[in-house]
Amino acid sequence: MAIFLDTGNIKEIRKFMRMGIIRGVTTNPTILRRDGYGGGLEELKTRQIEIAEAIKPYPLSVEVTSNDPEEMLSQAREFSGWAENINVKIPIHGPEGELDNLEIVHRLEEEEGVTVNVTAMMSAQQGLLAALAGASYVSLFGGRISDMGHDAGGEISRLRGLIDDLVLKAKIIAGSTREVANVADWLEAGAHFVTVTPALLAKMPVHPYSRDTVRMFLRDAEGGSEQ
Ligand code: E4P
Repeated sequence: MAIFLDTGNIKEIRKFMRMGIIRGVTTNPTILRRDGYGGGLEELKTRQIEIAEAIKPYPLSVEVTSNDPEEMLSQAREFSGWAENINVKIPIHGPEGELDNLEIVHRLEEEEGVTVNVTAMMSAQQGLLAALAGASYVSLFGGRISDMGHDAGGEISRLRGLIDDLVLKAKIIAGSTREVANVADWLEAGAHFVTVTPALLAKMPVHPYSRDTVRMFLRDAEGGSEQ
């Protein structure tokens, strides 16, 4: 069980790597846009190679930017060749529910040795099919599941049970965190990893009572206790 960082921001990645508390990084086109990526494969390549190097041997997820099956295959081959620790994110299906993606996942994992993270999933049943297709990682978007009024922890735990019962190799990444409590809750529910934004991760260690206690120590240290 471990925490991944959900960002393309290299400064944040280096900061949390120095603390020793993250075991991987996930990105997607929306996160990269928010983190100032301009678009274009050359920039993507340079910046993702930099991240992969900074976190190795931990995994980095890089998502395909196309919905065309041939283009997805060729991007997956290219991205996974940038560094040994890069895995390729493929959405569970196309924007209209097209089913080409599972075939691509199966081919990449079983025939081409490309490690795949199937993404944008909102239910255990989707995760089960991705795991059966051979995906190494299956990403359930917990926050979005909750946004729809469903039980994120329940879907995670159901999927974990199925993966374990069927002895599938897939590891669950619970993403789309919305609050600090999601991390421990979803790990306890059965996620192998929870991926968290830098802003959320920075809140995790801070407790108001710890703050008061540390202030007390520093105040007393300055006053020079005489014992
Ligand atoms: C996970 O791999 C995704 O990158 C991410 O957690 C999605 O989160 P969102 O629902 O905030 O877009």
